[in-house]
Amino acid sequence: MKKIKISPSILSADFSQLGNEIKRLKDGGADMIHVDVMDGHFVPNLTIGPPVIKALKKQSSMIFDVHLMISPVHKYIKAYSDAGADIITIHPEATDNLKLSILKIKELNKKVGVSLNPETKVDVILEHLDKIDLVLIMSVNPGFGGQKFIPEVLNKIKELKKIQENKNLDFDIEIDGGINFDNSKIAIEAGANILVSGTTIFKSNDGDIKKNIELLKSK
Ligand code: DX5
Ligand code: ZN
Repeated sequence: MKKIKISPSILSADFSQLGNEIKRLKDGGADMIHVDVMDGHFVPNLTIGPPVIKALKKQSSMIFDVHLMISPVHKYIKAYSDAGADIITIHPEATDNLKLSILKIKELNKKVGVSLNPETKVDVILEHLDKIDLVLIMSVNPGFGGQKFIPEVLNKIKELKKIQENKNLDFDIEIDGGINFDNSKIAIEAGANILVSGTTIFKSNDGDIKKNIELLKSK
């Protein structure tokens, strides 16, 4: 059984204090930092890019779990690698050749993640599962924090877990979107071992990050 890890999404952080917010997450026991990159094209929202990530990474030893909601994504992979991303997660719909994009991330010695939107089936990535380090299961449609959890995606996690066991593979299963104290347990029981959370971690219990991370893990 893999150790349950928490990857807080800084999309819900105070963007005027991102450096301090990342330090608060580290002090609060976060296992990594989930950085939501949005381009206003793949998703209807725009956040941060390589210069900001580079500046944040200079101040932090934390693992940067970078979720690229951008398209086309292939030509930007190196920029995020150079900026300091440790895990680079892409969406299959955002590249013309998923196999080449996966190989590009591996060539750069970064961990590679592939993200499935709620409507996207596991079949899309079956042939790549032996080459990737992480599958990011979206439990909301990407673009914004604070959305409602879509429970149907839990079946996808259970399906992935079975495939992982049958093929004796070791990728992490990360779930992202609407994770809170009421659904973190069922997400873990379904097979997720990394929980992304923004709103719950930054806004619950008067923003007590340490308490919120512990509560999510302990369910
Ligand atoms: C949505 C992002 C998620 C989101 C999670 O497109 O990928 O990481 O910020 O935020 P909450 O936990 O508020 O749903
Ligand atoms: Zn995300």
